Amino acid sequence: MTDARVTVHTAAVIDRIAPELHGHFSEHLGRCIYDGIWHGEADEEVGFREDVVSLLSDLEIPVLRWPGGCFADDYHWEDGIGPREDRPRRRNLFWAQDTGERPEESNAFGTDEFLELCEHIDTEPYLAANVGSGDPQEAVDWVEYCNYDGDTELADRRRENGHEEPYGVRYWGLGNENWGCGGQMTPEQYAREYRRYATYVGSMDKLMLDHDLDLIACGFENHDWNRRFMEEIGSSSWGVEFPLDHLTLHHYYGRSFSVSEADEDQYDRFLVEALEIEDHIERIAAAINAVATTRDIGVIIDEWGSWHPESVPESGLEQPGTVLDALSAAAVLDVFNENSDVMTMANIAQTVNVLQCLVETDGDDAWARPTYRVFDLYANHKGNEAVRTSVDAPSRDLDETNLPLVKASASTDDDGVFITVTNLDCREARSVEIALEGIQDPNRVDAEVLFAEHGPKVEVTVDNADEFEATDLDVSIEDGVLTAELAASTVAGFSVR
Ligand code: AHR
Repeated sequence: MTDARVTVHTAAVIDRIAPELHGHFSEHLGRCIYDGIWHGEADEEVGFREDVVSLLSDLEIPVLRWPGGCFADDYHWEDGIGPREDRPRRRNLFWAQDTGERPEESNAFGTDEFLELCEHIDTEPYLAANVGSGDPQEAVDWVEYCNYDGDTELADRRRENGHEEPYGVRYWGLGNENWGCGGQMTPEQYAREYRRYATYVGSMDKLMLDHDLDLIACGFENHDWNRRFMEEIGSSSWGVEFPLDHLTLHHYYGRSFSVSEADEDQYDRFLVEALEIEDHIERIAAAINAVATTRDIGVIIDEWGSWHPESVPESGLEQPGTVLDALSAAAVLDVFNENSDVMTMANIAQTVNVLQCLVETDGDDAWARPTYRVFDLYANHKGNEAVRTSVDAPSRDLDETNLPLVKASASTDDDGVFITVTNLDCREARSVEIALEGIQDPNRVDAEVLFAEHGPKVEVTVDNADEFEATDLDVSIEDGVLTAELAASTVAGFSVR
């Protein structure tokens, strides 16, 4: 019996899938940087954790956002450059809240360490400048320190710190959640601040000539806020030629339950909540396009992923890495593919140890979480042309909403077609047919599946981490139609040549 049919409309091109849709976010929060990317203060070793760097390197991360998050609007970048022993120790204002503890920031990991990491793992850096408690001068100085190749004091400081050549950092965020932890601003207020910052950072961009900066503003899941922000931006003397290349929002889901304690109905609702990201993408794009009538401004999902009740400041926002979370990542990456015509970047939160991280550490051990395996499987989509798919499959009714039980997306390159299909149903296996328009007789089909031996509740540990690697999936082909059996809660990738 066929439970689902995916039709791939190979000629219906959506757009190129920006590799940056597979981006990541790392903040000075809990054990993301210290004990995650960089050795913790209690460790004998100082410097990068080579085990983590190696896992991140293998994943070929296209872009990494840093240093926050809420931390970005309390961070003063000059604290984190120069000889480490001379760097000031500061309180970590935001992540101290409500913990009864007073986390402190050693500043051992600063701008040069972050940019060295990016060079090392071959990823594009994305710096978030301080708007909430900083000023435009500080932001321009940061750009100058990183990117300027002239004969100035700041460019010389970079050279003295061991970096003769400018880094050429392209992505610059101006603030983070400035409607909340970044200053509690109204949209009009943030738009005015944004314009002030963009005036000077944009002038620095022109001065440097050969560096083309992308300036990024933060939006909100409240779309009236986005509309008002865009209208205020558009009301300046720049008209629609304002220096704004991307507008962002954050989407977290799953706060109401721990995966280990939840039942199947809650799993369904969680996945629906994850998929609400599509509505947010459409609505923020509409807010942009109502004002930016003659130019493209990209949609960035700057932070996304699961956020369960275990993730509280006291735990450093740590939560177990489960198959359910990984399934949600697969469904969300499908949504990104389908919206590749408006989306320019997306950064899952957060890279190591925090929230829906991809890598977890404990002492001397580091391992990949199930979400890591999803990113690895979906890597075949990066840079391809996304094409439309239609999915004919059952959905589950949940009061006023429903969950599509099968999710898919497809993309093409010179070698063929790559299709990802997720059985979001945690109760039943499905037989899935895939029909590819215009392809009757594929030369070769390779298919892999994730989580075939696991249920949604299964948590990764150092001991079982390797069990989540993709395994081969049997596919039969008849009259050009592929058929495969997908166990409950599994993700599959089909490469057709
Ligand atoms: O990722 C954790 C926090 O979530 C970030 O600091 C903030 O931007 C968001 O609210």
